[in-house]
Amino acid sequence: MNPVSTSFPSIKRNQAKSTGESHAYGRAQPIGSNSSIGAILVDTGRLSAENAERIAGLQIEQGKRFGATAIALGLLTEDDVRFALSRQFDNLYLPANDTSLSHQLVAAYKPFSATVEKLRALRGQLMMRWFNAETCHNALAIMSPGAGEGRSFIAANLAIVFSQLGERTLLVDADLRTPCQQDLFKLGNNAGLSGLLANRIGPDAITRIPLLPGLYVLPAGAVPPNPQELLGRPAFADLLKSVIRDFDIVIVDTPAANQYAESQVIAVGTSSALIVARKNLSSVTEMTSLARNLQQNGTKLVGSVLNDF
Ligand SMILES: Nc1ncnc2c1ncn2[C@@H]1O[C@H](COP(=O)(O)OP(=O)(O)OP(=O)(O)O)[C@@H](O)[C@H]1O
Ligand SMILES: [Mg+2]
Repeated sequence: MNPVSTSFPSIKRNQAKSTGESHAYGRAQPIGSNSSIGAILVDTGRLSAENAERIAGLQIEQGKRFGATAIALGLLTEDDVRFALSRQFDNLYLPANDTSLSHQLVAAYKPFSATVEKLRALRGQLMMRWFNAETCHNALAIMSPGAGEGRSFIAANLAIVFSQLGERTLLVDADLRTPCQQDLFKLGNNAGLSGLLANRIGPDAITRIPLLPGLYVLPAGAVPPNPQELLGRPAFADLLKSVIRDFDIVIVDTPAANQYAESQVIAVGTSSALIVARKNLSSVTEMTSLARNLQQNGTKLVGSVLNDF
């Protein structure tokens, strides 16, 4: 995967949205150097609040460290303690033996791999050249012409690296044809975007991912018979406007653009798009045609990524 290539001028990032506002979906708890090991483990569901209190009491009595006391009591494993220590230093990765999420989320499980290095480089380019909270340039559709080119992989992992920077990040799965974010984040496939657009559920379909602080996911939900009509409704444009206001970053996964017309509708809603090309698979003609269609619809093409795997 190559870093985003773009010739747009740099835009200075505005921090105004990140402070003090109340949001419809609640604020992410900043887990990091200010949190105790106990608080981190309770917040991520690895320890009950009662057991945390019990350990804290004994720890003081015995003059030992929290982690050592908890391991001696059999309430935590060494791996739990390593995980909490990494969080204290804002190193937001998940241990290799953790199975809470799919291991395709390499930004969570393999933060030091070459792929994730490149994703961080991509994030840096996007921060400089695309992101502007003041003018609401903070939503990005991840697009490609054909199937299996890596849109969902890049959308999910890019959302994670943005959240690791402390940005309140929402990942929307707007691929109502072959959705996969619900599997990557192990969310089940009931409440999601399709239900929201059909007015069957409310915004609580937006799910906080407790293991990845600052990250929220709106899965696709049940696959509907009429994805194009659902995404063409004003409700979808309204939803995007609302989340663009409430989140620092909104990343939207889309269906294959040369097969499904609604991908252009999604791009109009986000106003900006990033094109993914898979090495030795994507067709140059189709890429060019996708870029031309985006420009004709008034979508800003912020760059392209060569996904080489
Ligand atoms: N850079 C990469 N490194 C490793 N695996 C990757 C990479 N990009 C994609 N993959 C893997 O390739 C497969 C296809 O990727 P993905 O599902 O993201 O493609 P897609 O374009 O969203 O496909 P679809 O058309 O089905 O929506 C997945 O198993 C994904 O994990
Ligand atoms: Mg996909």
